[in-house]
Amino acid sequence: MIENEENFLLSPARQLTDEEKKLVWKKPVSHKVSEEERRISKEVKRNWHRGEMKIANILLEGDAGSGKTQLAKALSANFGLPYTKVTCFADMDKSDIIGAILPVIPPERLEELEPVEQTVLKAVYESDGFQSITEVLMDALGMTQEQAASKMKHLLKLAGECADGEAVEYRFYPSEIVRAYQKGYLLEIQEPNVIRDAAVLMALNSALELDGSINLPTEIIRRHPDFVAVITTNRSYAGSRPLNEALRDRVQHTEKMDLPTKEVMIERAMGKTGYQDEKVLSALADIIIILDKTARANAIKGVAGMRSFFYWADAVANGASATESLYHKVIYKITTDSEEIAILEEALRNHGLLSSLEEAQIEEKKNETLAMQSKSGHGAI
Ligand SMILES: Nc1ncnc2c1ncn2[C@@H]1O[C@H](COP(=O)(O)OP(=O)(O)O)[C@@H](O)[C@H]1O
Ligand SMILES: [Mg+2]
Repeated sequence: MIENEENFLLSPARQLTDEEKKLVWKKPVSHKVSEEERRISKEVKRNWHRGEMKIANILLEGDAGSGKTQLAKALSANFGLPYTKVTCFADMDKSDIIGAILPVIPPERLEELEPVEQTVLKAVYESDGFQSITEVLMDALGMTQEQAASKMKHLLKLAGECADGEAVEYRFYPSEIVRAYQKGYLLEIQEPNVIRDAAVLMALNSALELDGSINLPTEIIRRHPDFVAVITTNRSYAGSRPLNEALRDRVQHTEKMDLPTKEVMIERAMGKTGYQDEKVLSALADIIIILDKTARANAIKGVAGMRSFFYWADAVANGASATESLYHKVIYKITTDSEEIAILEEALRNHGLLSSLEEAQIEEKKNETLAMQSKSGHGAI
């Protein structure tokens, strides 16, 4: 709920299991409610029981670090829906969208396999069906989603060979997408624009139809009325693949997510780092904003965004020199190319930002010394 002023629960009567309750995001104290969050929450709630006007596919497109993922999670909290996500990758295939059928290998055959493979297959067989197969692999082996997906395909092959017609039982393991779709969760679909295979995009696209269904090898499942899909994607730039038109067409509400305003940047940084010096934070934010603009204008690929800002502010809060840490926390993250660095430095000089940074820091040092002196009783007036 947003500051208790409004209730956005979508299905107040719905009973979640304990496992599902754990998946509903809890807002940390550092979370700041944004205009976008208010707008989407209101819109979705208002249209929830309006049939074809229902809003259940949302697109958040924009800058890296602008808060797309956190907004998707905040919606999970506001709507009271379990949050889950899928991170797309270029080589995704249909089993990543739908799920996979795995033969259950008898224990005596299982023992002939490599220990790692045994562990993994056992983990999969023992899973209660609450988790998707990739999720089990991510947990058991500490993998990323993409690694887990490729491991799953390897296992499929292996289990197929190993079963060799002998397996009596086949089991279907739904994907994370299917799980969310069937059980009525809020699913963040990260970067579906990278997917190369048109057939996979089509499968994803038809899964987003409002009253659609997915054909599994074992059954046909219907879209749960509470299923909400939130597509999050960075805005396309020259050389990147834009979001598929058909997929874009499926969304009923879109937010353009940019680097937040300076005020919001400072507010979020204070919440995150606990550092409260507004003057210094303001000087750092100005620099981030100019670097972001300059990088874009000069087709420099890296980003100067919120994440760099937080780490930089935190370093400065802990006594690092602002000018020195500017390089390690911000500039080198954008680029280590000397010519590009020179362009960025020149922009900062032209805006007089390097000197204002130094001033802000000198002033902060003064204040610190004064504070220390008054604490220890020396230099007190
Ligand atoms: N509303 C918010 N209040 C406080 N911090 C936020 C908020 N939105 C994003 N952040 C912080 O900003 C950083 C980037 O947010 P994230 O959602 O991961 O961005 P994106 O998904 O757009 O790349 C994270 O550290 C996140 O905690
Ligand atoms: Mg994200």
